[in-house]
Amino acid sequence: MTTWGIPYFELQLGAEEQAAALSVIESNWLTMGPKIAEFETSFAAALEIEGSLERPLQAIAVANCTVALHLALAALEIGPGDEVICPSLTFVATANAIRYVGAQPVFADICSEDEWNLDPRDVEAKITPRTKAILVMHYGGYPCRMKALGELAKKHGLRIVEDTSHGPLAESEGRMLGTIGDVGCFSFFSNKNMTTGEGGMVVTRDPELAQTLRAMRAHGMTASSYERFKGHAFGYDVTLLGFNFRMDEIRAAIGVEQLKKLPVTNERRKDLVTCYHRHVAQQVPSLVVPFRGWSGRFGYHIFPLLLPRNVERGAVMAALAEHGIQTSIHYRPVHTFSAYQDVRAEVPVTNAIAPRILSLPLFPTLTEDKIERVVMSLKSCLES
Ligand SMILES: Cc1ncc(COP(=O)(O)O)c(C=O)c1O
Repeated sequence: MTTWGIPYFELQLGAEEQAAALSVIESNWLTMGPKIAEFETSFAAALEIEGSLERPLQAIAVANCTVALHLALAALEIGPGDEVICPSLTFVATANAIRYVGAQPVFADICSEDEWNLDPRDVEAKITPRTKAILVMHYGGYPCRMKALGELAKKHGLRIVEDTSHGPLAESEGRMLGTIGDVGCFSFFSNKNMTTGEGGMVVTRDPELAQTLRAMRAHGMTASSYERFKGHAFGYDVTLLGFNFRMDEIRAAIGVEQLKKLPVTNERRKDLVTCYHRHVAQQVPSLVVPFRGWSGRFGYHIFPLLLPRNVERGAVMAALAEHGIQTSIHYRPVHTFSAYQDVRAEVPVTNAIAPRILSLPLFPTLTEDKIERVVMSLKSCLES
C-alpha cells in the first residue's frame, strides 16, 4: 500500500463525533429516530437564509446521495418515456439515478474551459417534448447558472433537481445551493465537505413533495418503528411504492456534529483554494484553473485544473505519486463509460477538456506549505 506524503483527501473527525456516536449506542435505539429528526431540522435551518420569505425548507435524511437523487426523481413522477437533461461531467450516480426510474439521461455540455457547469444554451437545445426535468450538478460547489436554467424550466414546464453533493452551505445570488430548484440532494460520503461515512439529504420547500419523499424513503409506510415503539401508532398503512432509503441514528448523530463544523471547514477550504490560485499563478501561470476569479461563498469541494494539451495525464499522476502526492480525476465523463455507450452525447467542450482534467489534494487539514509543495512538484513534473 502506498503511504502518501500528501494524500488526496484526509478525513477529519473529532471527539465531538465520537461522543455523538457513542451516545446513540448508549441510547439503545439505532434506526431512524430522534437523531434523524434533529439532523433534519438542523440541516434545513442551516440552509435557510435569514429574512427569506420563502416557504420553510424541509430536509429528509437518506442513506446516500445516490438514493437521494433516485428518490427525488421518483417523487417527481419521472419515469419511462421521459428525458432528463444532465451533465456528462459528473459522478456516474447523477446519470444512474435517471436510469433507475426508467427515464433517459440526455447529456448537455458545460459552459467553457473555465466554467465546468451546465451550459443553459445547450440545455435549451436539448429540450424535447419528452423532457421532464433538468438535473444540475454544481461542480466543485460552484453554482450553475440557476437563473437562466430556472427561466428555461419555467418556459418549458420542467422540474429542476440539484445534485449539491459538492456544495453544502454554498450560495448563489443570496440563495443556498440545493434550495433553488424543486428538490436538492446532498452527499455525506466520506470525502465530502461534511460526512456521515455514507449518507445523504433531500431538501424541498414543497410540503406535498416533502410528504411523498418521506413516505417513499421508508417503504411508503405511514408510521415508523420508532413511532410504534413510542406508542404513537400501533399499525401502519402502505400508501405508495416506497424504498428502504433510510439513514440510521449513528450517522445522523455524526452529521449533526459535522454540520456544526461546516461553516469553518468550508471557509478553510476557501483559504486553501486561494492559496492554490496564488501558487499556480506564480509557478505555472499557463494552467487553466476553472472558476478562477469567482468570488462568493462556494463549496470549494475539490481543486481541479486543466493540464497542458501536450502532456500525458497518467504520466503526470505517476510522477506526482513518486513525489508522494495523490491526485484524482473529476470526472471521466459519464457518456464515455461502457455502460453508457447506448446514450448519444454531443458535448464537445466536455470531450475537449476530459483528458486534461486533474484534481490536486484539498481538505481542511491541508497546510499552505504542502500546497506550495504540490504546485512545485507539478511544475517540475510538467517541465520534465
Ligand atoms: C456529484 C456527485 N453526485 C452524486 C454522488 C453520490 O453520492 P453518494 O456516494 O452519497 O451516493 C457523488 C458522490 O461521490 C457526487 O460527487
